Amino acid sequence: MIADQIKAAVRDIPDFPKLGIIFKDITPILKDPSLCQGIVDAFAEKLADTKIDVIAGIESRGFLFGLMLAIKLGVPFVPVRKAGKLPYAIKQKVYELEYGTATIEMHTDAIEPGQYVLIHDDLLATGGTVTAASELIIELGGIISGFSFVIGLGFLNGKEKIEGLSDNIVVLAEY
Ligand code: PRP
Ligand code: MG
Repeated sequence: MIADQIKAAVRDIPDFPKLGIIFKDITPILKDPSLCQGIVDAFAEKLADTKIDVIAGIESRGFLFGLMLAIKLGVPFVPVRKAGKLPYAIKQKVYELEYGTATIEMHTDAIEPGQYVLIHDDLLATGGTVTAASELIIELGGIISGFSFVIGLGFLNGKEKIEGLSDNIVVLAEY
C-alpha cells in the first residue's frame, strides 16, 4: 500500500527546526523514482472524480508533487509563494502563525474566475497555510475543489480546520 511505502521512506528528525518538533523529512521519497510515480498515480486515482482546472502548489515542498500531478492530469500548475518571490503583479495574504505572521503571494493571473482549483502541499499540519492559500484563491475568483497532501499529521486537527473550504481532502499517509 502507498501509505506504508511512504511511511517506510519518510525520516523522522527529532528537534528540527526547533526543540520538541519531530520533522517529517520527505527527501528519501524523492530519491526513489518508482515511489514518486506511485504517489502521483495514487493521487490521480483518488482525484479521478474531482473537477480540477488548475493545481496550486505551496512553496516549497508543495511544488514537488504539485507539478508532477499537474503534468499527470494535463492541467496548469501555479505556485503559491512566500513573500517577495513572484515577479509579476501579485495578490497577498497575511496569516497567523503560532508566533507572529506569515505572508503568501500568487500572481493575479494565476487563476481565471470560475476555475476549479486543487490545492496541493506535501504535508498537512495545522492547516493554516492551505487555509490562507484557499482564501487567496477565492479572492482571485477560484473555486476550491479539494486538497491533496502526501502526509497528514492527524493529531494537529488540520482536516477539521479546512473541511469547511472543501471536504475533498486526500491524504496518502496519515500519522
Ligand atoms: C511546512 C509544510 C507545509 C506547512 C504545513 O512547510 O511543507 O507547507 O509547513 O503547516 P501548516 O499546516 O501548519 O500550515 P514549511 O513552512 O516548513 O516550508 P517549506 O515547505 O518551504 O519547507
Ligand atoms: Mg511547506
